[in-house]
Amino acid sequence: MEATAREQVAGRSVEWPTRGLSFGGDYNPEQWAPEVWREDVRLMGEAGVNMVTLGVFAWGLLEPSDEEYAWGWFDEVIGLLAGAGIAIDLATPTAAPPSWLLHQHPEVLLVDEHLVRRAPGSRLGWCPSSPVFRGYALRIAAALAERYGDHPAVRLWHVSNELGGGNARCYCDVSAARFREWLADRYSDVEVVNAAWKTAFWGHRFSSLDEIQPPRGAQHAVNPGLFLDYARFSSHELLEHYLGEAEVIRARSAAPITTNFMVGSGSHVVDYSDWARHVDIVANDHYTLVDDPGRAEDLAFSADRMRGLVDRDSPWLLMEHSTGAPSWQQRNRAKDPGEIARNSLAHVARGADGALFFQWRASLGGAEQFHSAMLPHAGTETRVWQEVVALGRGLERLAVVAGSPVAPARIALLVDEESAWAFEQGLKPHRGLSYARESRVWHTAFWNRQVLVDVLPADAPLTDYSLVVVPSLFISGDARAERITRFVADGGTAVVTYLSGIVDPTNTVIPGGYPGAFRGMLGAWTEEFRPLQIDEEVRLDDDSSVRDWTEDVVLDGAEPVVSHLDGATQGRAAVTRHDYGEGGAWYVSAALASSSVQRIVDRLIAELALPREVEAPPGVEAVRRRTIDGDVLFVINHTSDDVTIATGGLDLISGETSPDATVVPAGRVVAVLEGMRP
Ligand code: GAL
Repeated sequence: MEATAREQVAGRSVEWPTRGLSFGGDYNPEQWAPEVWREDVRLMGEAGVNMVTLGVFAWGLLEPSDEEYAWGWFDEVIGLLAGAGIAIDLATPTAAPPSWLLHQHPEVLLVDEHLVRRAPGSRLGWCPSSPVFRGYALRIAAALAERYGDHPAVRLWHVSNELGGGNARCYCDVSAARFREWLADRYSDVEVVNAAWKTAFWGHRFSSLDEIQPPRGAQHAVNPGLFLDYARFSSHELLEHYLGEAEVIRARSAAPITTNFMVGSGSHVVDYSDWARHVDIVANDHYTLVDDPGRAEDLAFSADRMRGLVDRDSPWLLMEHSTGAPSWQQRNRAKDPGEIARNSLAHVARGADGALFFQWRASLGGAEQFHSAMLPHAGTETRVWQEVVALGRGLERLAVVAGSPVAPARIALLVDEESAWAFEQGLKPHRGLSYARESRVWHTAFWNRQVLVDVLPADAPLTDYSLVVVPSLFISGDARAERITRFVADGGTAVVTYLSGIVDPTNTVIPGGYPGAFRGMLGAWTEEFRPLQIDEEVRLDDDSSVRDWTEDVVLDGAEPVVSHLDGATQGRAAVTRHDYGEGGAWYVSAALASSSVQRIVDRLIAELALPREVEAPPGVEAVRRRTIDGDVLFVINHTSDDVTIATGGLDLISGETSPDATVVPAGRVVAVLEGMRP
């Protein structure tokens, strides 16, 4: 339980909650009788659990009626955990308000965009702007912090749970009034709002901020500036909630404070690049999706994105993932043998200093009674339990990587929540495009070649990189465009893909040929978008074909790299390259097939001499962490064939040493301590 100091966000020094890597999960003792708690703690010891998230949904049991607290059972659980040396990540239980509160104050319940107030009975169904809810939430947070704030076992605070996962946007009148205040702060005057949102369209001009409504379910499309600002406002309100709880905790406890993000390749609920600056330890929940054929690739993308949210040299924490099937998907997929370790260690390889699960013991009842757990319904005579125990032991042997940075990447890939919101909402040339798909396809092409990519917020500094990939960065204000342009002028290479640089931060089109913000740098511009119809396909001269999206590109200094072979754009460039300053800028104007993206990525790897961590087939991922004892090379073999890598050393997971080369069996993971770099 002893902690170590590690540099964390914003240069603050934060005590990491555990010695070595953190391992454990959500622990919900309120679902079990006290005898079971004792068995839990014993089994946690057997598995090597060193931290649990406690009390995350226990509000109704900690405060069974208004301002009446029941601490006894909680004191006992905390005592048991502390006695076993298990660190506590103490959650404020505000994700799941008690029934009495919702009964007394139905006005705190979330209202959807069609103005239907949601019923109680689940969780996170509250309005983030409700002062009534905020009052109760801060009161229970303060009561907990008052009681346990200086308890030595409380090593971390966990504010609420997945804020925004269920209450990302509320459209009630309280939210509407708060939105108008937020607008007043941001724009100072209603005429500034009118200008920013171009409200002359449909004559929607406002004469006073009081006339402005949230983008509720109007019968047709709403103003793009309005819905983008409502998304920003909603993220801000949830962050305010986090900050409110954090403040009352900080007044009573010195332990670091976090909340669990939901960073996957597809989720853009709130603006995490903004949120990350406000948490002491950046933490994530990651669940693979059964419909995603690239589950390992999605995991790598998400973990690379987490690293981009810290300062890249700091660790982050995997707060939740699963040992097997979740229960919220249509057909919930169990994990294959070895997949628990592959998943957990892929996060650790990419900078996580711990791997925790939802949840410790499988529930018998309640909404998630069929969700997998560290300790399954069938108990300890199970493969899952054995794999959990093996993982716990493996993480102990990997303690040397705790606090170490991931060896630096030379490629940055920019993601932007605001661009995702603007890209996917409203009337668009093609309403079936996915923002996440475009980022993922480029990331995966590097993943296939064992080349590390930092997935960065769109305004992060680029000085450490050779290549920046800019997938569908829809919003590009002047400062953002200038930074990327300067990066290229100074010798960098940029790959900008379609629907980047289209609007400014007010969601207003940048005129003069798309992609307006990058036109000069790209030496090419687009006269007209040509989204393809559902059965349409255009052949390209690189042996591939494109679906969904093409453009009429005009060359203005750039050279064509790939061109259209047929269709209305026959002979026109689909991909271009332009020398700009000391560097080069590529424009990818079509939604290329993954094979086509792979060819471009392979060319970039060769031309820019981007180092591969190892030479291995696709499906084998490799990342290095740079420890004080030397580099630790993680190789995760997702394929069904053994592979041999040309690196020898001590495999920290198996304890075996191989002098020059290491065999990574099918489905397994090695973590080879390579020794000091010369
Ligand atoms: C997470 C959530 C957990 C649990 C888990 C499994 O999103 O934070 O409380 O519900 O999913 O479904």
